[in-house]
Amino acid sequence: MDGRNHSMVSEFVFLGLSSSREIQLLLVVFSSVLYVASMTGNIIIVFSVTTDRHLHSPMYFLLANLSFIDMGACSVTSPKMIYDLFRKHKTISFGGCIAQIFFIHVIGGVEMVLLIAMAFDRYVAICKPLHYLTIMSPRMCILFLAAAWALGVSHSLFQLAFIVNLPFCGPNVLDSFYCDLPRLLRLACTDTYRLQFMVTVNSGFICVGSFSILLISYIFILFTVCKHSSGGSSKALSTLSAHIAVVLLFFSPTMFIYTWPHPKSQMDKFLAIFDAVLTPFLNPIIYTFRNKDMKAAMKKACKHLVIYRKIS
Ligand SMILES: *[C@@H]1O[C@H](CO)[C@@H](O)[C@H](O)[C@H]1NC(C)=O
Repeated sequence: MDGRNHSMVSEFVFLGLSSSREIQLLLVVFSSVLYVASMTGNIIIVFSVTTDRHLHSPMYFLLANLSFIDMGACSVTSPKMIYDLFRKHKTISFGGCIAQIFFIHVIGGVEMVLLIAMAFDRYVAICKPLHYLTIMSPRMCILFLAAAWALGVSHSLFQLAFIVNLPFCGPNVLDSFYCDLPRLLRLACTDTYRLQFMVTVNSGFICVGSFSILLISYIFILFTVCKHSSGGSSKALSTLSAHIAVVLLFFSPTMFIYTWPHPKSQMDKFLAIFDAVLTPFLNPIIYTFRNKDMKAAMKKACKHLVIYRKIS
């Protein structure tokens, strides 16, 4: 056969998370419940923000967009993972594998820019309150959204460009429950040391870069809040702590996965569950936890959704 034939591996085999029957059962229950809960929570947020006039402000529009992205985030890997937990032979086609990588990176990129946009929104609201409506105009929101999707898609295509021409000829077993670059690259029948370095630099740089921007902005905003501590500052603080919690939840596993230098470790596999089901589930909870407007709107939305059941 031609040594340049790249299509020798047509599918990959996942080893999954664990071979123990009990842990698998636990994971099925845990992931299914979290998946349904995060889809429901995020749908309610998108529905509430789009239908409730009181929530038509940049902060809530960005939050609804984050919820929308979170629905994608938990649908890329977890339904397949839950389905695979029942199967002995967990396989994914070559195309399916590439699709997972594509969507993981698009969603990751969009989410990072959205989090930065939300930090910027809070910065303007707290540090330049008089100019809030002129700076965070509908045009600015659309601009942030366009930037988020442009960066997400281009980052993802850039990552895929690394692997389209790689030969996969032999081993096809991935010690994971989803396809992602660090592990996939190690299966290529060529020296991928430099590619691995490029992928780490690309994802790691974007990740650490956005995280640093966010960290610095929130520290700056917190300082401003504390300096001008007035009546509104406790509400501002609770909103800010929600944002900071989400940022930490999102970035800790991602940064670990892309910058951790020990390929033999199993740690990244389990941390990936966080980004797959736990973070999309916690986002709506964290944002609505101490937010009265959001809670009221969600109650209204839920009433609309279940009104017929209540009548009967
Ligand atoms: C995302 O934000 C835009 C611009 O503010 C808004 O018009 C749109 O409704 C939001 N999308 C969702 C799903 O809420």
